[in-house]
Amino acid sequence: MNTEEDSFPILGIDYIQFFVGNAKQAAHYYKCFGFTPIAWMGLETGSRDSVSYCVQQNEVRFVFTGALGPDGPMAEHVRLHGDGVHDVALRVPDAEEAHRVAVDRGATSVAEPEVFEDEYGKVVKAGIATYGETIHSLISRPDYSGPFFPGFEPIEDAHDDGGLGIKHIDHVVGNVELGKMNEWVAFYERIMGFTELRHFSDEEISTEYSALMSKVVWDGEGKIKLPINEPAEGKNKSQIEEYLEYYKTPGVQHIAMATEDIVATVESMRAAGIQFLRVPGTYYEDVKQRVPEIADKLDALQRNGILADNDEDGYLLQIFSKPVQDRPTVFFEVIERHGAKGFGAGNFKALFQAIERDQAARGNL
Ligand code: FE2
Repeated sequence: MNTEEDSFPILGIDYIQFFVGNAKQAAHYYKCFGFTPIAWMGLETGSRDSVSYCVQQNEVRFVFTGALGPDGPMAEHVRLHGDGVHDVALRVPDAEEAHRVAVDRGATSVAEPEVFEDEYGKVVKAGIATYGETIHSLISRPDYSGPFFPGFEPIEDAHDDGGLGIKHIDHVVGNVELGKMNEWVAFYERIMGFTELRHFSDEEISTEYSALMSKVVWDGEGKIKLPINEPAEGKNKSQIEEYLEYYKTPGVQHIAMATEDIVATVESMRAAGIQFLRVPGTYYEDVKQRVPEIADKLDALQRNGILADNDEDGYLLQIFSKPVQDRPTVFFEVIERHGAKGFGAGNFKALFQAIERDQAARGNL
């Protein structure tokens, strides 16, 4: 627990919004991850400039927003960055107060508190800037009963049937420029009262070519965990540099989604067409020694290319998708935790070798 918690309470991630080239098709693609489109806004609902679809799976909500013309922030985002995360929206008890506290502590406001209202009630929304062009909306919705947000209409016959087993967001990772990681760690400590969970050095996370530094800030309870990566010296271009080259600015690198049955979740996603990184078969030769807890599941894990790691608190299972848009930028992680509080540092080497094989195939190594 941290002492600042009372002055910047956060209830969880309200939603993550992506700016995309085609919101209708993006919403459809995420069905492959188990999401159901539940609400939307567009020309027919009176939205003249943009189209948005909200998709949901248990506690996880993503919003895909695209422009209806060549001007404005969505069109500009797609031109410069391609599809990517615009907003990691945080649910707070009082958005106006959270915004005031954040700005008092030095955050840059991107949206003053505003009340949005429709027949289902009201939502208060404000916003502050974080790394790159990413923002944190601050959302309070104590009594709102609509499908998502005022102005969105429910999609008929849509119901979240539990999807493919994704329950909540485990962590959201940002890539920042060389030398900027500590600045952003300090930002979350100063503005939100977060503390550093742990950090990984470039020795721990390095392969022959790619290296990165990573620190994790969190709210002290585990509802919000935000690892922040920066590139480190390597023989060749690191995966973080490849991201920055294509995204053109710091931004969200990956979103980890938690399941209680990673084998079933991943088998279903793969059957639906999601592509995951593959580690070589030799990875499974020593994983039984490293993570003895998984002995009875080894066949199913190996069959699905799922990785395992442990720390003093327990073990975890994880797998990473390939990038989900044309540019090699945002990807997803599926994670099943059994006590472990880490992020799979023991897998970084095998994993980065797999990433680098793909990077080489793209001509970017
Ligand atoms: Fe992760």
